[in-house]
Amino acid sequence: MFLKVRSENPSDYPAITEVNNLAFGQPAEGKLVENLRKNPKFVPELSLVAEVDGKIVGYILFFPVKIKSGTGEEKETISLAPLAVRPEFQKQGIGSELIKEGLKACLQLGYDSVIVLGHPEYYPNFGFEPTEKWGIKDPFGAPTEAFMALELKEGALEGTGGVVEYPEEFLDV
Ligand SMILES: CC(C)(COP(=O)(O)OP(=O)(O)OC[C@H]1O[C@@H](n2cnc3c(N)ncnc32)[C@H](O)[C@@H]1OP(=O)(O)O)[C@@H](O)C(=O)NCCC(=O)NCCS
Repeated sequence: MFLKVRSENPSDYPAITEVNNLAFGQPAEGKLVENLRKNPKFVPELSLVAEVDGKIVGYILFFPVKIKSGTGEEKETISLAPLAVRPEFQKQGIGSELIKEGLKACLQLGYDSVIVLGHPEYYPNFGFEPTEKWGIKDPFGAPTEAFMALELKEGALEGTGGVVEYPEEFLDV
């Protein structure tokens, strides 16, 4: 299997929506990506597809967010979501490859940490830990073990406790 991870092109948009629809079994995440693309903060270089033999089989998006402390300080970070792999291509390492390549791209673009709300058994494989370690809270009231973060640079999240502020597009999901 020849797997290539690359940034999206406009011609990929329909296939990206389809991958999300199939992976999640509902249209919300595909729609979220379409809505976020219209947000000026969207970073096309961090909207990545996994291609096998020219077919798009996986997708990952990183979107800039802020951690806001109670005293009004703000820390720039980036959220990982959604991550999707076509059902018939799952459990072959494609999700892992998207995460690893995505984390490298985030670091290259200057991000020092990543936040994710997701499967607590999956993301620790890549070094993610529950955000309560840093006093970082989610605005959705998710289970604490599902809200995780990773420092791309050691110590990046030290002293940054607060609430993660997501763009409003996420609040519709
Ligand atoms: C989650 C998802 C992206 C993983 O993609 P994938 O290509 O199947 O992942 P990988 O093949 O890289 O899996 C790596 C490991 O994680 C495990 N894993 C996959 N999904 C998992 C889950 N939901 N919970 C726990 N472990 C999981 C795999 O079993 C595999 O373990 P192994 O290497 O010991 O066999 C894919 O299952 C998917 O699209 N799911 C539906 C959408 C979704 O839930 N997205 C994530 C939202 S947080």
